[in-house]
Amino acid sequence: MTDLALEARGIVAGYVPELPILRDVHLQAARGRVTVIIGPNGAGKSTLIKAIAGLVPVSAGTVMLGDQDITNPRPDTMGAAGVAYVPQTDNIFRTLTIRQNLELVLRNAGADRAARLDALFGQFPPLAAKQKEKAGALSGGQRQFLAVAMALAIRPSVILMDEPSAGLAPKAAQEVLGMARALTEDGVTIILVEQNVRQALRIADHCFILADGQNQVDGPAADLMNDPIVGQIYLGGKRVAPA
Ligand SMILES: Nc1ncnc2c1ncn2[C@@H]1O[C@H](COP(=O)(O)OP(=O)(O)OP(=O)(O)O)[C@@H](O)[C@H]1O
Ligand SMILES: [Mg+2]
Repeated sequence: MTDLALEARGIVAGYVPELPILRDVHLQAARGRVTVIIGPNGAGKSTLIKAIAGLVPVSAGTVMLGDQDITNPRPDTMGAAGVAYVPQTDNIFRTLTIRQNLELVLRNAGADRAARLDALFGQFPPLAAKQKEKAGALSGGQRQFLAVAMALAIRPSVILMDEPSAGLAPKAAQEVLGMARALTEDGVTIILVEQNVRQALRIADHCFILADGQNQVDGPAADLMNDPIVGQIYLGGKRVAPA
């Protein structure tokens, strides 16, 4: 049986109680793997990762982190549980330097702080080179690297990322997705929302397709790469009849 780092079951969630956006959604993320969530605009992808992160209330269903029920956590308890969330936008402090951004998230690291900062700079050399520059001056791709470096400050076992490659040129998008993939080499579990479907499927292990607040299909990313079902869901936005 697959070792699941995180599993969402029967999730009903939304922004107002009488209007659920997600209806009975499930997601499984294998430990140390990349799981990608794709689907048309408005499918509920961001809502799903926000629901997992405790930023959108879950009215039914459960989110399990291994054996631990983390349904509707307080956002500040997510860090303690080892789950980091990287929002799509506004995920860094632009007016602070790169170093200050990292110092901020390491403020509770105590005596380890300097060593942890060095380790993060070692992991992301381009950030080290620009550490005294304002984060707002970074390129779009480097900003995503900084956002992920900040997420790593809590030493997460699971990282939720919402469209880290959005708005990036293909090469930068590739670098960001490659970095997400590389994090799994340290055993981190990545759950990623993506619009760059082809690029995402290339670096992912497993893929869930959502449309209209519901699961459509899921399977190994390599299998879905050439499956016409992906295009059908994007074009039609409709549920595919079971084979
Ligand atoms: N803060 C909010 N308040 C009310 N409704 C919202 C809010 N955010 C999103 N929605 C609605 O929830 C539905 C799903 O939105 P969501 O942002 O989860 O989709 P998505 O799949 O991430 O889309 P995109 O690809 O455009 O990012 C949409 O109908 C959207 O209008
Ligand atoms: Mg979204």
